[in-house]
Amino acid sequence: MSRGIFITMEGPDGSGKTTQIERLSEYLKENGYDVIITREPGGTRISEKIRDIILNKDYTEMDPMTELMLYASARAQLVNELIGPGLEAGKAVISDRFVDSSVVYQGIARGLGIETVYSVNSHAIGKYMPNVTFLLDLPAEEGIRRKKKQAELDRMERESLDFHRKVAEGYRELSSRDPKRIQKIDATLPIDEICDIIKDKVKSIIE
Ligand code: TYD
Repeated sequence: MSRGIFITMEGPDGSGKTTQIERLSEYLKENGYDVIITREPGGTRISEKIRDIILNKDYTEMDPMTELMLYASARAQLVNELIGPGLEAGKAVISDRFVDSSVVYQGIARGLGIETVYSVNSHAIGKYMPNVTFLLDLPAEEGIRRKKKQAELDRMERESLDFHRKVAEGYRELSSRDPKRIQKIDATLPIDEICDIIKDKVKSIIE
């Protein structure tokens, strides 16, 4: 085990992860942690370039396997450049999405299968799995409604309602399979209430 703490935030598009990450970061800093906040796909110079390719709304012909491998490539760079070294140095690393996103979006919603996702990603993540993952659970319709307020939707956000329903359902399935690591939280609760649930859980881990 590495010395730091690795926390990931998951959930459908529009579930409010960013706000919660900022609050959690403040809490960890108050408790003496050096905090690294990152996001997937992205978080390093190279991974952000890969992100531009993955999310480009013009690349509608992208093959699901290409998509899976691009996410995994961005992840390999992020793990080796930022997450791994941060954890080894005893820092708290909070990532907006990690491998669970690939399991749900590519494995379940795209239908590539969970085994395939893990076998490709094992090379990208090595020994690093989150200590705890918060799933901000939101009905697909509500997530889309929230996202549509933004200027322009990316390639993934343009997917059908059916796809987004599979994502929301896939996340629920994942958390019920591994409830110890993946904490499901109702994302329609008030922001402060969600924040308190997250802090309580993190407190129990760092104490
Ligand atoms: P982003 O704008 O970061 O979405 P959000 O604000 O909802 O987190 O875009 C990331 C998109 O990529 C999002 O639709 C989820 C998707 N995704 C995958 O399909 N597989 C993955 O492995 C990851 C990390 C993200």
